Amino acid sequence: MEYQLKPINVGLLGIGTVGGGTFNVLTRNQDEIARRAGRPIRITAVADRDLERARQVTGGCVRVTDDAFALVSDPDIDIVVELIGGTTVARDLVLKAIENGKHVVTANKALLALYGNEIFAAAQGKGVMVAFEAAVAGGIPIIKALREGLTANRIEWIAGIINGTSNFILSEMRDKGLAFDTVLAEAQRLGYAEADPTFDIEGIDAAHKLTIMSAIAFGIPMQFGRVYTEGIARLTREDIRYAEELGYRIKLLAMTRRTAEGIELRVHPTLISARRLIANVEGVMNAILVKGDAVGSTLYYGAGAGAEPTASAVVADLVDVTRMHTADPEHRVPHLAFQPDRMSDLPILPMSEVQTSYYLRLRAFDRPGVLADITRILADGEISIEAMVQKEPQEGEDAVDIIMLTHLTREKNIDAAIARIEALASISGKVTRIRMEALGRR
Ligand code: NDP
Ligand code: HSE
Repeated sequence: MEYQLKPINVGLLGIGTVGGGTFNVLTRNQDEIARRAGRPIRITAVADRDLERARQVTGGCVRVTDDAFALVSDPDIDIVVELIGGTTVARDLVLKAIENGKHVVTANKALLALYGNEIFAAAQGKGVMVAFEAAVAGGIPIIKALREGLTANRIEWIAGIINGTSNFILSEMRDKGLAFDTVLAEAQRLGYAEADPTFDIEGIDAAHKLTIMSAIAFGIPMQFGRVYTEGIARLTREDIRYAEELGYRIKLLAMTRRTAEGIELRVHPTLISARRLIANVEGVMNAILVKGDAVGSTLYYGAGAGAEPTASAVVADLVDVTRMHTADPEHRVPHLAFQPDRMSDLPILPMSEVQTSYYLRLRAFDRPGVLADITRILADGEISIEAMVQKEPQEGEDAVDIIMLTHLTREKNIDAAIARIEALASISGKVTRIRMEALGRR
């Protein structure tokens, strides 16, 4: 089929997991994509450190270079797709591409969470687009949904399972009893994990994505440094099992909520009732719940990582940019949903002021008065107990596990109560504290 408009030329930086997937999807579906975009979109040059692999993936039909800076300055390239990752070279390349008047598509959430304010300002100044659907939740079109589909709403909160690797680890550990390190190695083999997998395990990757979603939802600047972040590395099998017995699943949840006192911005393991759909999201799948004042709750589900699911989002951005690149920059959808001169300075709420409910596990010597001491401390902190279970003592052990679920309370109150409980002579070791979310009940 002949098109009136000339093809859009794409320069691809990095042809690893996502870059390879993007090349394959764009090649396989090129006719369908051209019919949607109104002109062919073709990758005409690829930059990667590994030239041999780049030639193999592209089948030798594309110009290949190891000089990414030459590619972002190439006058024949219309759109630069940045898929090398990291925040050093990638930042320089993206800023250089913008300076050269090129549109950019990126999956790099770390780059946007840390330098998004600078990058979007530069893009605005140059009248170019920076598209980043693939940066959050892999193949799920959550950026489009938040920025456009839900634009009528005052967003109240977003809660998401947005790191495929950690969800995969939690699922495999629970269902197959596999060891943490074994499952992590498998996630790396499958191309889900970040170059530095501690980003996945420690909740940093989810915090990057939450930073981006929160900016779009509330019209605030990217504030990665203000996200409270706690990962899954310290979760124990016991807690996963006890949570199950009580009808809950533990997930690494990213949560941002608008409150009267400020914006909550937090990532941490969370107990969610097993009856909730989101608690049943397993493996590399992601899910995001968004509560808008008009629409109510909406749920978005799909593959959160991997070559082709992520490529699906990258190519969607390529089509969007292709359709919009001749439009007057003033009339395009703003990068972060809100007009850049209408951003809000809503404060971020310190974690100590956040209100949630809690799962507490403590080890107590089975003596009279222990429970009375604990409940008195909780009552002093105005913390009310929703449920409590005392486990049977193990053979030959003097201490028992006590599990408590609390009603909503402020983090600083529970911290103060835990410090007092840990100081009791009848308590052995540290108290385990995991936050709980009812998701929708407030
Ligand atoms: P990979 O490591 O698989 O691919 C990156 C590629 O870029 C590699 O081939 C790498 O070469 C190359 N590269 C690195 N630095 C340079 C450089 N300076 N010049 C040229 N080439 C370079 O990463 P992914 O594809 O997994 O991730 C890419 C981006 O997408 C990251 O920002 C990641 O966070 C994001 N992302 C990844 C997802 C996934 O499922 N994997 C999902 C969503 C987003 P070498 O191997 O030699 O280092
Ligand atoms: N490492 C990320 C994850 C890739 O596991 O979710 C997708 O962003």
